[in-house]
Amino acid sequence: MAIQLQVNGKSHSVDTEAQTPLLYALRNDCDINSAKYGCGAGQCGACTVVVNGNPIRSCITPVSAISGNVTTLENYQNDPVLNALNKAFITEQAAQCGFCIAGMMMSAKVLLDKNKNPSDTQIKSALNGNLCRCGTYSRILKAVKLAVKELA
Ligand code: FES
Ligand code: FES
Repeated sequence: MAIQLQVNGKSHSVDTEAQTPLLYALRNDCDINSAKYGCGAGQCGACTVVVNGNPIRSCITPVSAISGNVTTLENYQNDPVLNALNKAFITEQAAQCGFCIAGMMMSAKVLLDKNKNPSDTQIKSALNGNLCRCGTYSRILKAVKLAVKELA
């Protein structure tokens, strides 16, 4: 069946099953590669994208359940918060292998869109569901804090 998806403000008609995970549709049909397949079970956060201001685990969300625009890291140049996060993650060299990073940034974006001056505890709590197998958590925290400073 044809499913209409809006991704980063652009419309896509995706020919797929209703139960296909959003992650597959993004990667296979919409040229979106930032969201990653980590666990495929909603446990690691590597596939996180933003829909209607909320972080969504795209590996376990059926494509037919999406209504509204899907925001991914590819949209960073049009999104001041994502742009600041992107620069800060590079400055702080937060990525080691990089696999978790897009999901981390999307969860951080949701926090910073709602809270311009979060505490360390609030940042850690917002990123709690995003796992980094390289363990660069302290550099990721520093990067989010740098982005907060840059956006002030
Ligand atoms: S790949 Fe979606 S939560 Fe791990
Ligand atoms: S940088 Fe490798 S998983 Fe986070």
